[in-house]
Amino acid sequence: MKHYPDKRGAAIDALLTVQRHRGWISDESLLDIARFLEITAEDLDGVATFYNLVFRKPVGRHVAFVCDSISCWIKGCEQVQERIKNLYEVDLGQTTADGRLTVLPIACLGHCERAPAMMIDQDVYGEVVPEKLESIMDKYK
Ligand code: FES
Repeated sequence: MKHYPDKRGAAIDALLTVQRHRGWISDESLLDIARFLEITAEDLDGVATFYNLVFRKPVGRHVAFVCDSISCWIKGCEQVQERIKNLYEVDLGQTTADGRLTVLPIACLGHCERAPAMMIDQDVYGEVVPEKLESIMDKYK
């Protein structure tokens, strides 16, 4: 808390801290954090749903974010999405049946010069051609 001018400023870090331990932010966790920060649950939920690295639903052991902004779209992110779908039987917004992987779209990851880009957990990958996907995903069991 001492790193922020007020409790509200700590909202994102508080959400991410709880998420790191519990995997996602349930309604119960949201209420507890809001109470701790002395802000309304509606305000905190607004922050949580705006910030797309905060998960308001359960996710898999790993989360793959596929950039679908303009540079990645031009360079073939749709083929990457299609390859993920074929390999792991999962669509954007879904989690694999074994709970290994959740796949989510994300706006520009800031690696446009290496499009198409994706991020798995905290790791960013560039120039992700569909043929590379299996070797990348081998690190995330
Ligand atoms: S558009 Fe995909 S990383 Fe920028």
